[in-house]
Amino acid sequence: MASTAGKVIKCKAAVAWEAGKPLVMEEVEVAPPQAMEVRIKILFTSLCHTDVYFWEAKGQTPVFPRIFGHEAGGIVESVGEGVTELAPGDHVLPVFTGECKDCAHCKSEESNMCTLLRINTDRGVMIGDGQSRFSINGKPIYHFVGTSTFSEYTVVHVGCVAKINPNAPLDKVCVLSCGISTGLGATLNVAKPPRGSTVAVFGLGAVGLAAAEGAKMAGASRIIGVDLNPRRFVEAKKFGVTEFVNPSDFDKPIQEVLTEMTDGGVDRSIECTGNINAMISAFECVHDGWGVAVLVGVPHKDAVFKTHPMNLLNERTLKGTFFGNYKPRSDIPAVVEKYMNKELELEKFITHEVPFSEINKAFEYMLKGDSLRCIIRMQEE
Ligand SMILES: NC(=O)c1ccc[n+]([C@@H]2O[C@H](COP(=O)([O-])OP(=O)(O)OC[C@H]3O[C@@H](n4cnc5c(N)ncnc54)[C@H](O)[C@@H]3O)[C@@H](O)[C@H]2O)c1
Ligand SMILES: [Zn+2]
Ligand SMILES: [Zn+2]
Repeated sequence: MASTAGKVIKCKAAVAWEAGKPLVMEEVEVAPPQAMEVRIKILFTSLCHTDVYFWEAKGQTPVFPRIFGHEAGGIVESVGEGVTELAPGDHVLPVFTGECKDCAHCKSEESNMCTLLRINTDRGVMIGDGQSRFSINGKPIYHFVGTSTFSEYTVVHVGCVAKINPNAPLDKVCVLSCGISTGLGATLNVAKPPRGSTVAVFGLGAVGLAAAEGAKMAGASRIIGVDLNPRRFVEAKKFGVTEFVNPSDFDKPIQEVLTEMTDGGVDRSIECTGNINAMISAFECVHDGWGVAVLVGVPHKDAVFKTHPMNLLNERTLKGTFFGNYKPRSDIPAVVEKYMNKELELEKFITHEVPFSEINKAFEYMLKGDSLRCIIRMQEE
C-alpha cells in the first residue's frame, strides 16, 4: 500500500454540525501532521459524558461544526517534524490533556496540569498554528479537546499521546484513554482512602464505578454508591460498591443521610456526576477532622460551588482533578499493564458496542442511562 505520509487523507468522520443534532457521517480531509503532531488511525473509540455535554452545548460554549470524541485507541499513521518518541505503527491512546515534559507542572510530581497542553474545551484548533487539520470542501471543521476521535484519522499533539504495549487489545484499553483512568486515579492518586475506610462515590457511570474500583483496590471497607438511576445499583455490585443510596428516596439532603449512616461522615468522597448540587453534597458528607472530597464531574459553565466556610474550618478538604492526576505519557502505559496483568478488569465497563455508522446510538444509550461505555468500532466488516 502506498504511504499516506505527508498527504491529505480523505476518510469518514462523524461531524456535529449543530448542538444536540445527530452526528452526520461525512467524508473529511485530514491534513498531514505538522511540527510536534501525530496523525493516528483510530480503530476504536468510546463515548464519555463530557462529549455529550459539549455536543448538547446546554451548559457549555457551542463550537460547531466539530468532531467530538476523546476516548480512543489507534495506531500512528505518520508523524510531523520534531517527533522522535513515536513512529508509524505504534499503538497509542490519545488523551484530552497533555504532557509536554518541560513545564513546571510536568516537572512537578504533584500536578498533571501541563501549561502547554492542559485541557481546553473551547479551543477547536491545533496549538501549533491555530488551524484545524479537518476540512470539508476547504471549510474547517473544529477539533475537540485536541483529540477528535470520531474520525477514522485524527491529528493530535505528540504530548497528548500515550504509547502503549502493542499487545494490548485496543477495543478494551481504549476506555483507559479517559473515563476509567480518571475514576481510578481520582481515588488512588487524589482521594487516597486509607485501608478500612468508608468511601462515598456520587454518580455510578463508568467514571464513578472506576473510582469505586480504586476504593476496593485501596482496601476501603465500605463503599457507598449514590445515584439517581436505580438500575446502576445492580451493575455497581461488580465494582465493589457495598451500599446504595438514591437521593430521590429521601426528603432531606443526601449529605445528612450519609452523615447519619456513617456516624459523622465518610472518610473520602468522589463526585462523578457533573451536577453542582451533588458536588456540594459530596463535600458536605465527609467527616470533619480528616474527610477529603474529590470533584471529577465537569460542571455547567455558570455553576458556583457554595458551602459555609465553617465546613472547611472544621478540617474537611476539597479537591478536584482532571484525568485522575495521571500524566498521560509517563503514567498511562503502566495503567495499561495493570489490565494486561489482570490487576484491572475493563470488560465489565463495556456494556455496548456499535459500528461507526451507528455512532448516534451510543449517544442514546448514554442519555437514557443504559450504558456505561459503548465501544464504537471504526472498521466495519
Ligand atoms: N475530571 C475529568 O478528568 C473527567 C474525565 C471524564 C469524565 N468526567 C466527568 O465525569 C462525569 C461522569 O462521566 P460518565 O461518563 O461516567 O457519565 P455517566 O452519565 O455515565 O454517569 C453519571 C452518573 O451520575 C448520575 N447522576 C447524575 N446526577 C446525579 C445527582 N445529582 N446525584 C447522584 N447521581 C447523579 C447519573 O445517573 C449517572 O449514573 C461527567 O460529568 C463527565 O463529564 C470528568
Ligand atoms: Zn472523558
Ligand atoms: Zn507541560
